[in-house]
Formats: sequence, structure tokens, C-alpha cells
Amino acid sequence: MSSVFYRNPNHDYPKGMRGEGVYLYDATGKQYLDGSGGAAVSCLGHGHPDVIAAIKAQLDELAYAHTAFFTSEPQEELAAGLAARFGEEGCRVYFLSGGSEANETAIKIARQYWLAHGHKNKVAIISREQSYHGNTVGALSLSGNPGRREIFAPLLHDWPRIEPCYAYRHQRDGESPEEYGARAAQSLQDAIEEAGADNIAAFIAETVVGATLGAVPPAPGYFRKVREICDRHEILFILDEVMSGCGRTGTYFAFEQDGVVPDIVTIAKGLGGGYQAIGATIVCAEIHDKIVDRFGSFEHGHTYVGHATACAAALAVAGVIDRDHLLENVRETGSLLRSELAAAFAEHPHVGDIRGRGLFIGIELVTDCETKAPAEKALAGRIKQEAMEQGLIVYPGGGTADGAMGAHILLAPPFIYEKSHVDELVGKLRSVLERVL
Ligand SMILES: Cc1ncc(COP(=O)(O)O)c(C=O)c1O
Repeated sequence: MSSVFYRNPNHDYPKGMRGEGVYLYDATGKQYLDGSGGAAVSCLGHGHPDVIAAIKAQLDELAYAHTAFFTSEPQEELAAGLAARFGEEGCRVYFLSGGSEANETAIKIARQYWLAHGHKNKVAIISREQSYHGNTVGALSLSGNPGRREIFAPLLHDWPRIEPCYAYRHQRDGESPEEYGARAAQSLQDAIEEAGADNIAAFIAETVVGATLGAVPPAPGYFRKVREICDRHEILFILDEVMSGCGRTGTYFAFEQDGVVPDIVTIAKGLGGGYQAIGATIVCAEIHDKIVDRFGSFEHGHTYVGHATACAAALAVAGVIDRDHLLENVRETGSLLRSELAAAFAEHPHVGDIRGRGLFIGIELVTDCETKAPAEKALAGRIKQEAMEQGLIVYPGGGTADGAMGAHILLAPPFIYEKSHVDELVGKLRSVLERVL
């Protein structure tokens, strides 16, 4: 009997033994094509020699030194690089161990910032239905994901949540994408008026919604309107790019394609690419300076904040992305994958929508393409299982339509995908859907 407290104790997990490029291998030697980087993590694929070399070199120098005592070269260099990408003079980067911690940190920064301004009631954070921001209690409070919330509901903050920006299901007939974006953003304005801006610290959203909806990008103009509303009401604008950031959509930050800059952005998965556990919360200069001027420091910290080896790995991941021009590949291979999927599933009676940006693509499954009647939630699990049988890793999700009904498949392949991998992924996916549906 195993002593592991498994995610699902009733499931028989194959033992992962080896990773090489876009493939993983289990203990029987079976090969799996990685079509989702796990949960949009492995942006450089597996066993990347440059990242491994950087980690080994850092271990030889300094594995770890607590950041209450020391800073480190990789932490400084990684922060400088991320600040340059964020593009705002004086912005600051706080390193954590993952996405939930990054969003917890954003919640606390928002609170301390408004306290520094003397607004002690600006506490609540508005988020959206059909979203996911993490599994710790604060981050789960932000998450509009009924399945993940249900058991823990009594522990969670009861903060306002607005509707998602989800064109496939919520855009009305005769409404343009821009009109829909404006209408969806109006629900933020309405929620602020109802709760009172004096009680609201921030609004948080995933730039491109990941696991809950399956790579749903915002309608055009949506985030520009959100930015205006936040500014008008003195509410911080936080974007969660834990999944969609670090190049996944073809630009380093997904928000670069929406003509906005948030006050705070959180990143994680693709930052370390799975080589080390690392996340980050990036804040604009005004927020950092206000907190420091008023309080001296941000009242926060974890043991592994700014872990030197994790920072060295992330630095190497970002270095490879730049050196090998992988964002270009994300854009080109992403559009190739989109068009191959569209061609393969154009006539499929259960493929309702194919959407996304770059190498972040969602396929929503329905029982009827005309009426968009959602597939059953349990379909997601069956697809995952059949895909693994056929040597393919994809990341399906259930409850897409409204939390209770619907299913989608999330694809987030490594940035090193070539045409042959796209062909293999689409071929395998077609065979998986044939078997399951
Ligand atoms: C958008 C988003 N935010 C936050 C998280 C939580 O990140 P982690 O699992 O690293 O704590 C996730 C994880 O899937 C996510 O997709």
C-alpha cells in the first residue's frame, strides 16, 4: 500500500519516469505526447538541458538563503528582467512558490495599500464567476468555481462576483463583440455601485480564463472598460496570469494584447516551466512606494520567498524563450494548431467552439452545436482517461457552461512544438473523441 495521500485515492496513477522534449514516459516505457504542459506549466517541455545546467550551477553556488537575511544574484536578475517586461519604471516583483501564493500576496498588498491611504474599509475584492485563482483560502475566496468552493464555503470570504466575459455563451444575437465587451464590463460598475467603492479594494480577473472555462479570451475592449471603471472608483486592477502569462498567449504578458496595464499582475506556471516551483506578484511603483512610505515594509513573507535555485531556473527559462525566439513559435504554431483543429472538427457534432490565444486553446463540447446544449460535466474525466490510454496528455475541465453543466478540453503545449507535434496532437485528439463520444 502506498503512503501517498493522492489527489484521487481511487485512481491508479502511472509512475512518471522520464521526460524528453514534448514527451513523457511512464515506468512501463509508454510514451505520452504532452499537449497541455500538465496544467499549462511545462512551457519548454521536459529535460531542457540549459535549464537543468542553470539549476545545477546555482546549486553549486548557493541553493538557498532565507530572504530575511540575504538577497541573491538570481533573484535580483530575475526581478530586473520581469520589471523590464512589465515596462513601468520602479515596479517591483515579489517572488513566491506558486500561483495561489501569488494571488494571496496580491490580496494582502491591496489591503495594505488602501490602509496606507487611510481607507480602512477598502477590503473586499470583486472577482468573476467561472474563474479560478487558487486553492488556499484567500485565493479560493476569489474563485468563482462552484466545484472547488462547495465543501469549503463556510471558510471563504463572501465577496462580490460578477459575470464572466464569455462570448460563446453570453454574447447576444445581433450584439457586436465590442458591444458585448462593454456590457460585460458594465457588470463591474453595477457591483461597485451596489457594494460601495469605499468597501472595495480591487477587482481581479484572469486575462484569458484557463482551467474553469477553457482558454476564453476577453471580448475586444472589455479590459479597457474595466480599467476605466477601476480608475474612476479608485479600485486596484489585478490580472491573474498564473496560467496565461509568461508567453503562453504569444506575448510575455497576455494583457499586452488588450491595450491595458494592470496595477498588479500575478504569474507562476510558465515562470519556472515546472523545473522549479515559483510564482511572482508584480506591482506598480506607486503601490510599492505607498506601502513602504507609510509602513516601512509589506507585512508578509514565506520561508521560500525568492528561493535562489527557483529564481535561477526561472531566469534560465526566460533566457531560452528569448534566445530561441519562442514567442514567435507560440504565435505561429498556435495559429497552425487552431487551423488544424478547426479543419479536423469543423463538422464534429459535439465540438461547439474552438478558442484561445497562442498555444492556449480551449475546445468546448456540446450535445448540439445549433442550440449549444452543454455536454455533461463528467465527460471531462472520461476524455482525460482515454487520452492517457492513447498516450496523450490534455487538460479537460467540467462545468464549463455554468459550473454545473458543460465540458471542455484545454490545450497548452510546450512552446517548442513543431508541425509534426501539432499533427500528432490533432490526430490523437480526434481518435480520443471518437472513442469517448
Ligand atoms: C489562473 C490561475 N490562478 C491561480 C492558480 C493557482 O496556482 P497554483 O496551483 O500554483 O497554486 C491557477 C492554477 O491552476 C490558475 O490557473
